Amino acid sequence: MNNFTETIMFTRGNPAVEALPVDDLSDCAQEIFKKEGKVLFQYGHYSGYGPLRQWIADNYGAALEQVILGNSSMEFLTFLASVMLKKGDRVFVEYPSYDRTITAMKRAGANVVGIRLEDDGVDVKDFELKLKDGCPKFFYTVADFQNPTGITCSLEKRRAVAELAEKHGFYILEDAPYKALRYYGEDVISYRELVPHRVFYINSFSKVLSPGIRVGFLIGPTDLMKEVHAWSENTYIHPALVTEGIVYEYCRRGLLPGNIEKLKNLYRPRLDGILNSLERHLAGQAEWTKPEGGFFVSLFLPDTVDGKALRDNTADFGIKLSKGDNFFVDGRGEQFVRLPFCQMDPEETEEGIRRLKKAILRYSH
Ligand SMILES: Cc1ncc(COP(=O)(O)O)c(C=O)c1O
Repeated sequence: MNNFTETIMFTRGNPAVEALPVDDLSDCAQEIFKKEGKVLFQYGHYSGYGPLRQWIADNYGAALEQVILGNSSMEFLTFLASVMLKKGDRVFVEYPSYDRTITAMKRAGANVVGIRLEDDGVDVKDFELKLKDGCPKFFYTVADFQNPTGITCSLEKRRAVAELAEKHGFYILEDAPYKALRYYGEDVISYRELVPHRVFYINSFSKVLSPGIRVGFLIGPTDLMKEVHAWSENTYIHPALVTEGIVYEYCRRGLLPGNIEKLKNLYRPRLDGILNSLERHLAGQAEWTKPEGGFFVSLFLPDTVDGKALRDNTADFGIKLSKGDNFFVDGRGEQFVRLPFCQMDPEETEEGIRRLKKAILRYSH
């Protein structure tokens, strides 16, 4: 029985450790090492382990040359930035957006512009307004259960943005690690299905299988993938084949859908739990998003709360929050609190939100 004497961490969006299918993965490792060891432990093809690459191409209706495997999805953001961007090029991101992408794009010298995010996705009017100041090379989006807000973009808005991409000639960088983790409602079709020739689609096995295994993939327009393949080869020759082999064996055995179902059944009550706790403790004191899946709910503190003092002093209340500023291109996220909910059971979340309420009350004026 946890009496919550330790700090409750609302920081990283990690999968629940009890959900990692360690035994199945060990079995798969043994089997694939026996069958394919001489391939997996040797230098290989620059685009990753062939059978997994083919499995992804088949599952996503893509040609093999459109698919590249990598050491999870993060590095594709840096590859694409290196291949596609020149210093000063514009990149649009949601406002707020995934912090590491903002960092990767800024590091590549891009002029990163934030597009306002509403409950049903980007504000299309704001998008059009910002296009008038210059067309971006990319629009980076997490359209399903966004990190950090949990918001999903509606089909109507996806269509509107896809049309803008066609009209103005920019690419959509669709990052979809949470898409399969829908606990309520209906799936919304991806940008990739709407305008495949305008989309670089990034996904990984981090949230649906294991993040430590570091296996991700990118599917892009055929004519642009040659350069990405060459860039990756000249960076690391090829990604790690050993873990790709294990993932392939796991997928070949047909275990992935069952694991996703298991995760949904584990995380759904955790989402319910955090939303109930927020309602119980913070109704009228703050606003928050109401996601239907993924890993995050986000809280917006009113201006009557000193967000900076609150964050600087959360240790006094036995909680830890990530820095809100990092999710905003202009660094103005003091009133923003990302709350990952998958790693904790609802009792711990309830206690965490109870503590957060105390901290909010302490720093309200
Ligand atoms: C939106 C988004 N993209 C990319 C990543 C990176 O994930 P990985 O490199 O493990 O695939 C994360 C991780 O939290 C994420 O939330």
